[in-house]
Amino acid sequence: MKILVLNGPNINMLGIREPDIYGRVTYADLCRMLEEHARRKNVELEIFQSNHEGVLVDRIQQALHVYDGIIINPAAYTHTSIAILDALKAVALPAVEVHLSDISAREGFRRISYAGMACLKTFAGLGFEGYRKGILFLKGILEGEDERGI
Ligand code: DQA
Repeated sequence: MKILVLNGPNINMLGIREPDIYGRVTYADLCRMLEEHARRKNVELEIFQSNHEGVLVDRIQQALHVYDGIIINPAAYTHTSIAILDALKAVALPAVEVHLSDISAREGFRRISYAGMACLKTFAGLGFEGYRKGILFLKGILEGEDERGI
């Protein structure tokens, strides 16, 4: 089972950016934690981050016939990018949206998620745990089991 984890702009700045919101743990720590979690769950993971909308669209398109599912934190593009929404719809892979912070409890402009409209589930406000839950959820879906991946 192969899952692509996509992270949008400024996620590479974790640990430095707005630590009161995103914490002090770094992007490298996030990648390490995800790789470890995936290994334990027997899932093959590729993790990719870009600050560029078109590059994220390219990666979503290239996921077709390569990956079984996508976990995406489109970061600020969540709230603006119809291109990312359309790319997710185009490949029609099972996708999960993750946000470290609770986007429903922040500024009004963060309440709309275009990417989320093409995702089966959203985990927001759980920090890194949201990615872990996303992997388990997708594993469950792909194995035809329930969302706890049991
Ligand atoms: C974010 C929330 C977005 O609103 C913001 O632009 C981000 C990160 C999150 O993970 O909480 O960059 O996606």
